[in-house]
Amino acid sequence: MKGGIKKILPRTLFGRSLMILVTPILLIQIISTVVFFDRHWVKMTDRLAFSVAGEIAMIADRVEKDASASALNEIKTYAGQNLELLINFEPEARLEDERHDGHAGLKETVISRTLAKAMDAQVRRPYLINVDVNEKWVEVSVTVTDGVLRVSLPQRRLFSSSGYIFLLWMIAISLVLLMVAILFMRNQIRPIRRLAVAAERFGKGMDVPTSFKPEGAREVRQAASAFLDMQERIKRQIQQRTAMLAGVSHDLRTPLTRMKLQAAMLGNNPDVEALKSDIADMERMIDAYLDFARGEGGEQASRTDLKAILDRVAAGVRRQGVKVDLSAEGDLSLHMRPVAFERCLTNLVNNARKYGGDIWIDVVRGEDEVVITIDDNGPGIPDEKMEDVFRPFYRIDESRNPATGGVGLGLPIAQDIIHSHGGEIMLAHSPHGGLRVKITMPA
Ligand SMILES: Nc1ncnc2c1ncn2[C@@H]1O[C@H](COP(=O)(O)OP(=O)(O)O)[C@@H](O)[C@H]1O
Ligand SMILES: [Mg+2]
Repeated sequence: MKGGIKKILPRTLFGRSLMILVTPILLIQIISTVVFFDRHWVKMTDRLAFSVAGEIAMIADRVEKDASASALNEIKTYAGQNLELLINFEPEARLEDERHDGHAGLKETVISRTLAKAMDAQVRRPYLINVDVNEKWVEVSVTVTDGVLRVSLPQRRLFSSSGYIFLLWMIAISLVLLMVAILFMRNQIRPIRRLAVAAERFGKGMDVPTSFKPEGAREVRQAASAFLDMQERIKRQIQQRTAMLAGVSHDLRTPLTRMKLQAAMLGNNPDVEALKSDIADMERMIDAYLDFARGEGGEQASRTDLKAILDRVAAGVRRQGVKVDLSAEGDLSLHMRPVAFERCLTNLVNNARKYGGDIWIDVVRGEDEVVITIDDNGPGIPDEKMEDVFRPFYRIDESRNPATGGVGLGLPIAQDIIHSHGGEIMLAHSPHGGLRVKITMPA
């Protein structure tokens, strides 16, 4: 039930606020229209018919009493001048011989029904009503003692078109109100939509246009300036992190280089070899930390062909003698930061090479997303560790075995990059036996 109502309700803020505004107006109009028609217009139509029927009854009485030519003439003149009734008396006619076509339109029905009711009550003689809507005339034929009395009258004596005019006014005013509401509402909603677009762009790592300023209602302005503050803070933090890690690694590299030189001069005994390998490990780690720090770097996003990047990454591992099956078809251009994205894919493919063996890369373009799957046929990752491996410095092989040579930053960096593009990265079990990494990117 609740879901059903939700489905009918408009989804956008614009639609909803418009509905909140328009529904009461519409209700008031409907109610007042109904009340007007029922209380006022119907009653008035009844009264009009009542007085016309009364006049017809009076004339019929007079004609029955005295149907002489002079009396008829007098009645005709009087009715024509004062009552807007045209009188005609046909002495030999019979009402039974006549028929009239069935009532069709609404107006015709309303007129003949109300008049018939009044005629039944007041004239108490057989009668026939003919409504000619086009000519705006009504003809009433009444049986009197020796003939048929025909009374023709203009429609306006029975029917007031103020009802229709009232309706038209109501509709016209509603339309004007609706237009005004739409105009105002659009102006109120625009800043909210701008804020949403800016936040979305920032989330995807794109630049928020400098023209973006807090505007609109106070609450919206508040949210927009809070967003701008937050954006500043995040940018500053990223810069600080990069600067700090760059500084640390630079400072570490200098003594490390000295140590390398000193170790080289120490000659070739097993202890020195171990020292050299430790130094090499440290260099490698420092490089990895730098990569992690640079992850968010200042690279600009642009529309880039994913296929070219995948070809490069695949070629890179193929050179190391690994079998790579790459299937990517169709238009695969995406809005992305190409260097960062390539690093992400390289990390994942290198994992598949190191821990797996053969690699299958598959790209499918959906309606509003591009899905990249990277499969391998290695041992895979057990379900309970699929979340952990995204934590920085987490490795399943706790020994930090230099043979597999990682520091546990490959997946966190990859995830960072995908999230900053507004995408999703998930781990699963591959049908080839190993790990499946599934990346979903907004197209
Ligand atoms: N394709 C894979 N198959 C099996 N295990 C994997 C795979 N990719 C990653 N892992 C596991 O997840 C851990 C974290 O990976 P990662 O963040 O790239 O760090 P690193 O490769 O530096 O160890 C790895 O140590 C490894 O144990
Ligand atoms: Mg790795």
